[in-house]
Amino acid sequence: SFFQKDSLSLKGKTFVITAGPTREKIDPVRFISNHSTGKMGYALAEEAKNAGANVVLISGPVSLPAPQGMEVVKVESAEEMYNAVLNNFEIADVVIKTAAVADYRPKTAYDYKVKKQPGDTFIELERTNDILFELGRRKRKQVLVGFAAETDNVEEYAQKKLHKKNADMIVANNVKAEGAGFGTDTNIVTLFKHNGEITELPLMSKRAVAQKIIEEIAFLLKDMDK
Ligand code: CTP
Ligand code: CA
Repeated sequence: SFFQKDSLSLKGKTFVITAGPTREKIDPVRFISNHSTGKMGYALAEEAKNAGANVVLISGPVSLPAPQGMEVVKVESAEEMYNAVLNNFEIADVVIKTAAVADYRPKTAYDYKVKKQPGDTFIELERTNDILFELGRRKRKQVLVGFAAETDNVEEYAQKKLHKKNADMIVANNVKAEGAGFGTDTNIVTLFKHNGEITELPLMSKRAVAQKIIEEIAFLLKDMDK
């Protein structure tokens, strides 16, 4: 297979991969989250491991079994994910931010169940840290890969994220397309690379998409070593 060629083995490389949603606590029984199931991120973690890499999987709450042969760090909130990723950034050759991180959290997380009251129709929110943006500011000789789940203007938004976050590649998908997006076993993605290259992939299993992304990352790492 591709990775048995010595030149493109990922042996000795460390991948930090985030997966799943985050949960932002409102009170002990309620939270804000999204539809991410972790399938794409877990498939990437497995494929990176299969290609010989050391993998640290930082996972939000999902119902998938923990993959074997890697370190799995379980987190809940965007803040916990931020801390876990930053703690592992030094050792990372590659970070893949597959996770669907909440953009906002309730300003106050109550430790008792909040009671509904007439006229109480707002939850005050504040922004979470943009983890990928922060990594982009700090990166040295590291490959950063982000995801962009969009419903429209996929190329425009993906290119903006690629540049704003100083990423090496953005994997974009239109979550409204049949066979793409949340919870499915398949995906339809386009890869946007920092060198301007755009690769549109057909409908594929998430496993096959993961293999393709890992292969592209192997090339990016090889380019960096030149
Ligand atoms: N991301 C992150 N931290 C956040 C929000 C997003 O690291 N607080 C990462 C995601 O993991 C993903 C990439 O940034 O790899 C793009 O996420 P996305 O939600 O598509 O983009 P945003 O910049 O949050 O913009 P918007 O949600 O407004 O489209
Ligand atoms: Ca977002």
